[in-house]
Amino acid sequence: MSRIKNLEDYSVAYRESVEDPSKFWGNVAEEFTWKKKWDQVLDWNFEDYYCKWFIGGKLNITENCIDRHLETKADQAAIIWQPNDPHEAPITFTYADVHREVCKMANVLKSYGVKKGDRVCLYMQMVPELAFSVLACARIGAIHSVIFAGFSSHALASRIEDANAKMVITADTAYRGAKQIPLKEVVDESLNACPSVETCLVLKRTGEEIYMKEGRDVWLHEALEQVSTENEAEVMDSEDPLFILYTSGSTGKPKGVVHTTGGYMVYTKYTFENVFQYDEGDTYWCTADIGWITGHSYIVYGPLLAGGTTLMFEGIPTWPDAGRFWKIISKFKVNQFYTAPTAIRALMAQGLENVDIHDLSSLKVLGTVGEPINSEAWQWYYEHIGKRKCPIVDTWWQTETGGMMISPIAGVTPTKPTYATLPLPGIQPALLDSEGKEIDGRGVEGNLCIKHPWPSILRTTWGDHERCKFTYFSTYKGYYFTGDGCRRDEDGYYRILGRVDDVINVSGHRLGTAEIENAINLYSAVIESAVVGYPHEIKGQGTYAYVICDPVAIEEYSMEELKKGISSMVVKEIGPIARPDKIQIVRGLPKTRSGKIMRRILRKVAEGDTSNLGDTSTLLDPSIVESIKEGAIS
Ligand code: WTA
Repeated sequence: MSRIKNLEDYSVAYRESVEDPSKFWGNVAEEFTWKKKWDQVLDWNFEDYYCKWFIGGKLNITENCIDRHLETKADQAAIIWQPNDPHEAPITFTYADVHREVCKMANVLKSYGVKKGDRVCLYMQMVPELAFSVLACARIGAIHSVIFAGFSSHALASRIEDANAKMVITADTAYRGAKQIPLKEVVDESLNACPSVETCLVLKRTGEEIYMKEGRDVWLHEALEQVSTENEAEVMDSEDPLFILYTSGSTGKPKGVVHTTGGYMVYTKYTFENVFQYDEGDTYWCTADIGWITGHSYIVYGPLLAGGTTLMFEGIPTWPDAGRFWKIISKFKVNQFYTAPTAIRALMAQGLENVDIHDLSSLKVLGTVGEPINSEAWQWYYEHIGKRKCPIVDTWWQTETGGMMISPIAGVTPTKPTYATLPLPGIQPALLDSEGKEIDGRGVEGNLCIKHPWPSILRTTWGDHERCKFTYFSTYKGYYFTGDGCRRDEDGYYRILGRVDDVINVSGHRLGTAEIENAINLYSAVIESAVVGYPHEIKGQGTYAYVICDPVAIEEYSMEELKKGISSMVVKEIGPIARPDKIQIVRGLPKTRSGKIMRRILRKVAEGDTSNLGDTSTLLDPSIVESIKEGAIS
């Protein structure tokens, strides 16, 4: 058992993982079911990036998630599903149920011609069929690409196109709090631009009337009736791609981060069990959406690999009231609860009336992920949700890292509010200065890099390995660069300070400012724009857009009309998550003589801190700054 139980275990594991990574991870990997054992644990090069783990190993990850538990846990709950409507009955799927459903779904995919290596896009709300689809793809060796169901048809189309997907799986519409989201309609719009898609499977969730295109669209329930409940898992290589997940960076279109099979499996289970100290019989709940990496690694794969019980929630934290999370915790006696700081802040603002009426005594561990947690939110979570008895694991990681990287191990690592604390075994962080030199010692700050690969590091970006090398391995030669700033304090504890690139983190969602600018610039009245983040009480960061509009449009339309048009364009291109919080129409942007926008100034103005804007003498037209300051939106 590679379970860490105390600080001594942690120190030993950490030391071994650094001294001999191959031996360490080789031992951890022994716990899994392999069809053929690996020949070599690791081969890698960060300078001309490639990385391979468990080379020559053959396996199927779903046999490790499901089949291997059937002997002892066939009747144990694997997935508990809580629907959006509190009056709709939850459904519990045992390991035997999940096995049956995944095999059936896998057979449906095969019957529509999906083969090993094909890409399948999943665009669904948090329903069990989403988890089954993910696993069904993995079962037959198809590469899943889950697209968060809040993305617009344009965003969906560009991701389907980039992956050249053969199939899309969606639902008629989605319940989301009091609203309904027309998923199939969005898919229809995007499929017009995606000739690669041969089949669209449609889950009937709400029964809302929808268009079904003959020869392309298929009702999932009808297809499932035609197939057997057994499916032999495809033999996969450790390094066969498992999934693509698109994520935003500082430039260009979102990248398809590629994770492979063996290393991802080993690392997600290891971190899940250790960080949450998951014990047999516990009920674990992660409130993320499977559309993000957290849902992949810690709703589906990690918990099922560990033979655990994982809860899936279709709804939102504030409907029908702000006590929804706490009600679900008390109803299912949740033991480990994992959520985002933004949700904590939003619920904290609603007061304690919605908290104190629920019995939260089942909780043992609390977790957070996705953005830095502020001290007030940490304290509130610790005191009012965990009742001062549950350790908080503030887990730092990324889509690219596949699993948690720097995090306390619950009950083992002494926590410190706002600190992700210490690196997990196998993770070798380094702080680098702007010259690329490692900053040693304690009480220091720098750009967070990782020196050595871990099993679930991204392998490439889909269709463009050069982009992967450039984005992550060129800033600092020989290091993986995370894009985050970080502090190492006197105790050697790490605190993540936020992104140092042009990525903003809005309610835990990663958005590239360039991506939002591109969307804004598509609006006919817009000449140019610049987007920056600013501190937002609930969302962590808000989106502030400075936009230059065409003088003719300014004559013709009111400011409100222009702003509305800009906003709608962003929603159309990306989705509601990227809608700017503030739009300031400006006559110019602060540019240097070489044409570079001085974002530092824009950030300061957006923060409301205009007292000291630093040196503006290199600006082409310093008077622009005055006019931007005057029109700033507070
Ligand atoms: C940020 C989410 C502070 C960070 C798993 C990172 C965090 C980005 C934390 C990745 C944390 C994630 N404390 N910041 N505990 N966790 N971040 O790819 O900036 O959606 O680079 O992965 O979120 O976001 P992503």
